Amino acid sequence: MERRGFNSSFGMLMAAVGSAVGLGNIWRFPYIVGTNGGGAFLLVYISILVFIGLPILISEMVIGRRARSDSVDSFKKLAPGKKRYISGLISVIASFLILGFYSVVAGWSLEYLIKSITNQFSGSSPQVIETMFTSFTSSPIKPIVWTFVFLFVTIFIVKSGVASGVEKVSKFAIPVLFFIVLVLGIRGLTLEGGMDGLRFLFYPDFSNFTMEGFLAALGHSFFTLSLGVGIMITYGSYAKDDENIGKSSLLISICDTTIALIAGIAIFTSVFTFGLNPGEGPGLVFVTLPNVFPLMPGGYLFGVAFFLLLALAALTSTISLLETLTAFGIDSMNLSRNKAAIGIGVCAFVVSIISSLSLGDTFSIQIGGLSFFDFVDKLTSNYMLTIASFIEIIFLGWFYKREYLKDELTNHGKIKASFFKVYYFMLKYVVPIAMVLIILSSFGILKSA
Ligand code: PHE
Repeated sequence: MERRGFNSSFGMLMAAVGSAVGLGNIWRFPYIVGTNGGGAFLLVYISILVFIGLPILISEMVIGRRARSDSVDSFKKLAPGKKRYISGLISVIASFLILGFYSVVAGWSLEYLIKSITNQFSGSSPQVIETMFTSFTSSPIKPIVWTFVFLFVTIFIVKSGVASGVEKVSKFAIPVLFFIVLVLGIRGLTLEGGMDGLRFLFYPDFSNFTMEGFLAALGHSFFTLSLGVGIMITYGSYAKDDENIGKSSLLISICDTTIALIAGIAIFTSVFTFGLNPGEGPGLVFVTLPNVFPLMPGGYLFGVAFFLLLALAALTSTISLLETLTAFGIDSMNLSRNKAAIGIGVCAFVVSIISSLSLGDTFSIQIGGLSFFDFVDKLTSNYMLTIASFIEIIFLGWFYKREYLKDELTNHGKIKASFFKVYYFMLKYVVPIAMVLIILSSFGILKSA
């Protein structure tokens, strides 16, 4: 039986961009830029993306296409009889947990889409808008219902298959998403405080920059490129034989960064125009922006467009998470696509329920002083993704034949991969050393100065 895969190179690109572009770009990126001082952080973040994120992205695609299997079985194929697949197992658990809590935030975007369609922000004071957010997120039923809707749609799409579900939806959703973010970015630039917003985002003022910002940049580059969760391995396994992996990985990183930057422009120009706080934190898009939209001309439509953007971006990411888990179900557990997608989706919903409830007081599970929601977020992004990627790249850089890598990146000698030497050097030395620093610091061994 021929293995399932993407129909076209464009489709694969859209699916991978769909995974990379998500709440991380529109919700998380702007607020971490905001809380870490703006332009200086941006500079560090982009350097890390190029020197660490991109080589890992290329590596994951290589692993997947070489082995043509899921994120666990791929390692069994590339290193038979060895325990290298441990990183795949960590990835599978991480993607399952991320799917659980990410779907909760994705569900919020649906509630906010409805709130903006029904014009609930206009005329409300900032206090009311803030209370709206906290009382909604901590209420026991409503956010769970929205999460359910979101997961239901995700399961339905993944069940339909790689080409007819994941690829088809991404080919439609990503161009729409790009259009919406572009319109919002241009709108932002025409606002009065546009220049102040741009200065905040782009002017590198290192006096505001701390060691913590450095670490946040490292962690976020993994999260935003969906690394360490097995997604890019799975999508690599669906790539065609003539796909230029190096080029696709570069394009994925460029699209991801461009969308994050335009979203940042849209958000900070508005925040500065209306005198709000850019360092608001996680509430930036759910609390700050609903204050902004009613104040700007055409704000109703821009508000609706923004939350539609957020929901679409989240959807293509939850699809990629469930697709990866489904591939594991099919390849490693011999399940049918339907059984895997539905079974894993339902189990992830249980994680969502616990995550969502942990933000209220009805049934609040706390671990190490954190709500279950925050705990899972930290555990996955700070530890599991970095550890899984670290094991992967050590394997590829130090225990896998260099010629095999070159062979895969040149499509068996059919195309040139002039970047290979630089890539290999990064893979072998730069990335592991930089990652040891991240891992040590995330364990609190390296404290900020
Ligand atoms: N890359 C996604 C984003 O930026 C988040 C994500 C992480 C999705 C890991 C899948 C896996 O929102």
